[in-house]
Amino acid sequence: MPANTSRISGFHKLSRKERLERVFDLAGISAEERSAFSVASAPLGEIADHLSENVIGTMNVPIGIATNMIVDGVDVLVPMATEESSVIAAVCNGARQCRDSGGITTSKDENCMIGQIQITGLSNPFAARAAVFEHQDEIKSICDKCDPLLVQLGGGFREIEIRVLDTKEPILVVHIIVDCRDAMGANTVNTMVEALARKMENWTGGKVELRILSNLADRRLVRASATFPLSAIGGEDTRDGIIRAGSFAIADPYRATTHNKGIMNGISAVVLATGNDTRAVEAGAHAYAARSGQYSALTRWEKNADGDLVGTLELPMPVGIVGGATKVHPTAQMAMKIMNITSANRLASIIAAVGLIQNFSALKALATEGIQRGHMSLHANNVALAAGAIGEEIEILAGMLVEQKNVRIEAAEQLLKNMRR
Ligand code: MEV
Repeated sequence: MPANTSRISGFHKLSRKERLERVFDLAGISAEERSAFSVASAPLGEIADHLSENVIGTMNVPIGIATNMIVDGVDVLVPMATEESSVIAAVCNGARQCRDSGGITTSKDENCMIGQIQITGLSNPFAARAAVFEHQDEIKSICDKCDPLLVQLGGGFREIEIRVLDTKEPILVVHIIVDCRDAMGANTVNTMVEALARKMENWTGGKVELRILSNLADRRLVRASATFPLSAIGGEDTRDGIIRAGSFAIADPYRATTHNKGIMNGISAVVLATGNDTRAVEAGAHAYAARSGQYSALTRWEKNADGDLVGTLELPMPVGIVGGATKVHPTAQMAMKIMNITSANRLASIIAAVGLIQNFSALKALATEGIQRGHMSLHANNVALAAGAIGEEIEILAGMLVEQKNVRIEAAEQLLKNMRR
């Protein structure tokens, strides 16, 4: 029975248990379903209540470890939170194939984020632009006063960029560029752009409207690169197939979207495991992929002078290691510890490395035997679970599905029935 109203006055004031009961009652949830939810939704305790609003439980996603990763010469075990089977196996497998050539190397821009201020109502936007430039020192001082600790750590305001958008009524867009060091920086930057609003109106004579961070974090790029020796990947045909697959994604937005989705399978899994903002990273990545005006691939695949395969990935990586869920979520803290993360730079490098390897494994499978064989054997466990298998039944049923080459829920339900007879 669906909830017959969504108007629950004072819902946020109820305790988590009371909220849960109200929702269960309204949605007609059975006693059996209630207890299954309570078991699956292992409480984060009070932390969950503080991370979000109207909390009734948690959504648990498995965390697995990607092995075989060497990033910038250092071995690292990478926790990945994902519900999609074969994502972690693909990284383990792909990372093994570039270990002999030293793994993945990376480089990173400064940790700069962009804050935007929209100014309208200007008859002379170019004069207004010049007026804002005249106040750079004051802008720096206002921004840095918002976060003295950040300044003490070597971060803070860096520069401004100003554009006039040629819209029906011109819009003056002021960007402040802020080095956020080990923080993702959204709160800091949003505080700064809000603090600048009144002064901007005085200097320009216009009206300040939006004041907000941009998620196109192209002043915070990370690059990852790896060499896959021909002997490790199975020869020239495989190499050339991967290179052609890369070209397909560069040229065609339909393919590029799937290509980049595969990259983000890896990236978002590490971003989530560390309590960072998956939506910010996803938005930045896809916008960066479209920066030429056509949506395209985030990676490039080539052969080097020795004939080995070389892959590179470049994208914005706005992740932090202080603040928000990264600091308070025990799973995120554990993920950081497992990777021995002491800076946002190192975290960004590992995340980009995982994205590159994920893409390598997907393209290698696609360019050779196809994705389904490997995928289906891992997916069979999910299908067995969905069919109701428990305990030892799960593995047995999954094996039968793979053997029959029919990894489908109807087949699984029928086989389970037969098994239990
Ligand atoms: C599936 O989640 C991801 C892939 O489709 C990526 C790709 O096609 O490159 C396998």
